Amino acid sequence: MTALSRRDALQLLAAAGGAAAFNTPAFARQGDPVFMDYQAAAANDPWTLIVRDAPAAGFDSRAELISGHVPDGFTGTLYRNGPGRFSRQDWRYRHWFDGDGFLQSWQIGPDGVHHRGRFIETDKWQIEEAAGRFIVPALGSVPPQPGGLTGPDDMNVANTSVILLGDELLALWEGGSAWSIDPDTLDSRGARRWGNGLDGVPFSAHPKREPETGIVWNFGQDAPGARLILWKIGPDGTLLDAGLLNDVPGGMVHDFVITEHSLVFLVGSYRFDRMRLPFIESFQFDEDAPMLAIAVDKNDWSVRRSWELPPGFLFHFGGAWEEADGTIRLDAALSQDARFAMAGAYDVMRGQAETQTDSQSRHMLVTLAPGGRSRVEALGAGYIEFPQVDPRLTGLRRRDTWHIAWDADQPRGATRIERRNLHTGAHDAFDHGPDIYVEEPLFIPAAPDAPEGQGWILHTALNAGARRTELHLFNAGHLSDGPVASWRLGYACPFGFHGCWRSGRLA
Ligand SMILES: [Fe+2]
Repeated sequence: MTALSRRDALQLLAAAGGAAAFNTPAFARQGDPVFMDYQAAAANDPWTLIVRDAPAAGFDSRAELISGHVPDGFTGTLYRNGPGRFSRQDWRYRHWFDGDGFLQSWQIGPDGVHHRGRFIETDKWQIEEAAGRFIVPALGSVPPQPGGLTGPDDMNVANTSVILLGDELLALWEGGSAWSIDPDTLDSRGARRWGNGLDGVPFSAHPKREPETGIVWNFGQDAPGARLILWKIGPDGTLLDAGLLNDVPGGMVHDFVITEHSLVFLVGSYRFDRMRLPFIESFQFDEDAPMLAIAVDKNDWSVRRSWELPPGFLFHFGGAWEEADGTIRLDAALSQDARFAMAGAYDVMRGQAETQTDSQSRHMLVTLAPGGRSRVEALGAGYIEFPQVDPRLTGLRRRDTWHIAWDADQPRGATRIERRNLHTGAHDAFDHGPDIYVEEPLFIPAAPDAPEGQGWILHTALNAGARRTELHLFNAGHLSDGPVASWRLGYACPFGFHGCWRSGRLA
């Protein structure tokens, strides 16, 4: 572990800028096949609305209550972030992760639900909005007549996640800066500046907050440099520390977990090979490369333990905790390869669903024991994604995970919300039926001191039959009872990836 110097930070920025030196194929003007394929699919298939372009002006309307009622005192705002702009001038991005960040808020109060959506006004978005065309090389696509890059924030789309930190909302990507947003107006305030030579250094999309202290941990990845950046942020948003974790294999690391004592990373077998454009093609799945688990001591970043696991890949963890003997247990949505990133996320841009379900993600419990011993166990049949935990137990021993779930005969995505008890395997679920595709289920405690798992599950979904986006609220402990309240918009929104909840005060 070494401190992150200004020179290190500049090297990180230069690594991304250097990618622009690669030649890119010219775009033939006879028509973009991806754009045309999507248009053809969208004409007949409302499922394709998950990757529709949101209107440039965004959304601003009330949602209609279609069943149930809001529980007494349930007031707050659900924020969700995800890609919302995929095409300009009849040219369409190739990869789902490329779209410009589109932030949505759902304000829930005694007067009903109000929905808003705004594009995050990144530097990239502003330049391209003014030009009327895509210019900047994206993670998985290079547009016609691309411009150059000077650093990661040139291509920052801030499209992956969102957290509340102090009095600001941060829209998160994983290759560059967090983007500061006014939580009341959704106005973009610009890249979050940390000072200390850290401006523009990658700040990933899955920070973890210690429930006792409010300290927020995060990392950034520098896969070409085979290292991670570690971030430690105070509850008010003050930078407490940052540094480099060297000699980490250059994998695509999207998420991590914390325990009481450790920061835990899992480097999958989807590894950095050599710099290519689009950048995502720099990664290749190495079926012979074991996954590597690394636990770093929170108090001394030079102390680390590691374990080898069978080859595989993951985007998301549920959570983790540490036993008295130092054994770490974590749950995650693990897949046997990176086919979704390498194929499925391309197919969806053409309006096609990934059909090879055997490489989709399953709910696994991973045990990392002293002496380098490890174990990976399946927690249930079927597939899951977007695992969520009670935030009051982040990093602590807990019982439940909530996630979206689907089966092998559902290649178009999940229709089910599920809760699984990690210790007994027992689960509780609600299936919305074949036409309603569900998004990340967020757990909201009933009260700060409510018992573990006592609270609400809130999730959005595309009702493809109705061509409308819906919001559903469940009792978190009784999913199979069905929603306690459901609302519907007068339109369909593009799918988001991740969200967060602000309890109480509405703008
Ligand atoms: Fe994610």
